[in-house]
Amino acid sequence: KMNLFTYDPGYKSTASCESKITYIDGDEGILLYRGYPIEQLAEKSNFLEVCYLIFYGELPTQEQYEEFVYVIKHHSMVHEGFRDFINGFRRDAHPMAIMVGMVGAMSAFYHDSTDITNPSHQEISAHRLLAKIPTIAAMSYKYTIGQPFIYPRNDLGYAENFLHMMYAVPAEPYHIDPLYAKALDLILILHADHEQNASASTVRLAGSSGANPFAAASAGIGCLWGAAHGGANEAVIRMLEKIGSANHIPEFIARAKDKDDSFRLMGFGHRVYKHYDPRAKIIRKMAIDIINKTSGNDPLLNIAMKLEEIALTDEYFIEKKLYPNVDFYSGIIYKALGIPTSMFTVIFVMGRMIGWIAQWREMIQDPERVIGRPRQNYIGHASRDFVPIDERK
Ligand code: SDX
Repeated sequence: KMNLFTYDPGYKSTASCESKITYIDGDEGILLYRGYPIEQLAEKSNFLEVCYLIFYGELPTQEQYEEFVYVIKHHSMVHEGFRDFINGFRRDAHPMAIMVGMVGAMSAFYHDSTDITNPSHQEISAHRLLAKIPTIAAMSYKYTIGQPFIYPRNDLGYAENFLHMMYAVPAEPYHIDPLYAKALDLILILHADHEQNASASTVRLAGSSGANPFAAASAGIGCLWGAAHGGANEAVIRMLEKIGSANHIPEFIARAKDKDDSFRLMGFGHRVYKHYDPRAKIIRKMAIDIINKTSGNDPLLNIAMKLEEIALTDEYFIEKKLYPNVDFYSGIIYKALGIPTSMFTVIFVMGRMIGWIAQWREMIQDPERVIGRPRQNYIGHASRDFVPIDERK
């Protein structure tokens, strides 16, 4: 297995890159956005302020913040063409399939801002992606349940607007629970960026060829969908449902340790964190709070906590440094918010969009930018002559 991070292809490659946006220390479980610890941002900030920080590099003044909020509200409505475009999908399509298509289609609807060499085009594209992703996400959901679309309102905050677009129906008022809006806003902060994860690298790689930001973001959504990456939150819930009760946990722990069994403990392990994912710590506390304040008890949360307790005392997980990651508890919160499992990774897209587009712009503005082209170790046949079909065995 070639380790891209030490392999020198003999030329500057995207196998490793420089960035000023996010810092992770996997051994210490540290995560900083532009130098600010995730724990402080989670406690003291809000998602749009964190988006400003990640994109522009500094926390906004009151005036900068208010102007940014206004711009994002201004761009939150989508082009009327999306209502026709979405009708091309099957009603039983996975919302992530619709997201890949709709975000890619932004290249067609907003082609007036796709000159990637133009800094103002870079900025307006970023604003459009951040502003429209909740609207597109809610449309993807409403379309699959056959309900009319609900459009963004200027009197609502970012997370509130999404909950309203997801759950409101034209016929009656919808009450937005502040607890739910706060929980969603925090979840989005925790998912905003994570340095060179697979989907961020995909966006960088796609953008490095000069593809427009909407096409690059669509590529990122496709990559995030995988169960080993952003799709893990949905896979965790399915795993907990399959475990069914705490007394079945040992059987699944044994399967996770069995090399001949493809089963892995979803929501456990990480490419970089060899310690508890700092985001998982915050989400775990939030999951317990929200369950206590809503249903009072959640069998899946109980199984998750017991599973974590057993795994963290098992020598296999200790030796391999496998800890819960951001996806292990997030699904518990989504369920408590009434979000269907098919929308879990869509929420991840909503949080991560700002990280992708900030990294895309950082890469585009790099004067030494190279077109991403990782090299390979060729392990196939040596050169050999063609064999006519009647001579093949
Ligand atoms: C995300 O990169 C990011 O930052 C991603 C992310 C982000 O914010 O963008 O943090 C979001 O993707 C989090 C990860 C979500 N995925 C899952 O929860 C799926 C389950 N996790 C595994 O698929 C796995 O842990 C990975 C893919 C996340 C990492 O796999 P690696 O790189 O193989 O992990 P590793 O090298 O640390 O593994 C060490 C050993 C290996 O066994 P050996 O080869 O040493 O025998 O531990 C094993 C692995 O096979 N292992 C597991 C395991 N994860 C790793 N064994 C059982 N269950 C697991 N979950």
